[in-house]
Amino acid sequence: MSRLRSPLRQPMIGTLIACLLTPFAAQAAGPNDSVREAIGWAERRAPGFNGKPDAEPLVIAHRGASGYVPEHTLASYALAILQGADYIEPDLVMTRDGHLIARHDNELGLTTDVSQRPEFADRQRTQVIDGSELTGWFTEDFTLAEIKQLRAIERIPEVRPGNARMDGAFEVPTLQEIIDLVKTLQLSEGRRIGLYPETKHPTHFQQLGLAMERPLVRTLERNGYLGRWSPVYIQSFEVDSLKTLNELTDLRLVQLFGGGQPYDQTVRGTDLTYAKMATAEGLEAIAQYADGVGPDKSYIIPRDASGNLGSPTDFVPNAHAAGLKVHPYTFRAENAFLPANLRSSDQPDERGDIEAEIRAFLDAGIDGLFIDHPDIAVRLREREQQD
Ligand code: G3P
Ligand code: CA
Repeated sequence: MSRLRSPLRQPMIGTLIACLLTPFAAQAAGPNDSVREAIGWAERRAPGFNGKPDAEPLVIAHRGASGYVPEHTLASYALAILQGADYIEPDLVMTRDGHLIARHDNELGLTTDVSQRPEFADRQRTQVIDGSELTGWFTEDFTLAEIKQLRAIERIPEVRPGNARMDGAFEVPTLQEIIDLVKTLQLSEGRRIGLYPETKHPTHFQQLGLAMERPLVRTLERNGYLGRWSPVYIQSFEVDSLKTLNELTDLRLVQLFGGGQPYDQTVRGTDLTYAKMATAEGLEAIAQYADGVGPDKSYIIPRDASGNLGSPTDFVPNAHAAGLKVHPYTFRAENAFLPANLRSSDQPDERGDIEAEIRAFLDAGIDGLFIDHPDIAVRLREREQQD
């Protein structure tokens, strides 16, 4: 069983007119069900970029082409698209004035030059984020105008020294700027490019009065992303964020899996853990509100005691039996991240045999993958399809 949705019906002329007006209607109040159905109908028949089936396996550029350019910058997303990625992945957090921006964390010190900015020195503070104490500079303390004064830096310069040479070159982008980039590059590339946004720390932002779900859906709808035929997957580690999104939109949703317990479940005092969610029953429950799952790779092929790839679990067949797509994270080419037997040397920044790792996961039945080096997965897919 996949998500419970209203059946599509043939649209009436009036509904099609409403469909044409949807960008304006969506800004005001959000589309109603009949407009959503009409959009879906039009998407499947129009010669545009919506409504086309996803490529398989789906290549999702993790934080952009973050193996080559500092993550979550327009340059990183643009390079990923030029390398042939099907979808680009912005992680999203909120600013104090309610803008959605692309950062992996609400703490800014790891991926921007904020610590070098004396004008923001007094913003540094310590707080508890998702149950852990953290000291730094937080997006919820900055307006978008202030965020725009910062510049991105490389998160792991020791593994990616080439990326670190671009420190200071790029701004922190908004979701709208990312969508604008995608729409422009769709035209120049002549193909559909998808968005795979993630709500980061949604309970934390909700507790601050900065809930992310409505602004996210409003921004996507304003840009014409409506319905399950649109090239969008929205992902989250938190269950309640996805269930809220399921009420707000027909766009496809993906439940991420980490370790321990989703933070929203900790706050609500439930006993739901990712381990329970990964059982056949847990996956069936997820299929009631989501269309896919994004597990850490270890849920599919754990590593053995020596750090080598072990044998596949039953995660993929169970997810498929529940009607869920499976898009594991994160594939990275450097030895630092590879199974021991696929490393090329003791040098963490050198590349190992990532293709062998990807092939093992394709053999395990995955439908797509998050990767920092999208060119590698695109080339491998092309070669496999030629054979
Ligand atoms: O969203 C898939 C993957 O990116 C989840 O991990 O921490 O890189 O956002 P993270
Ligand atoms: Ca992510």
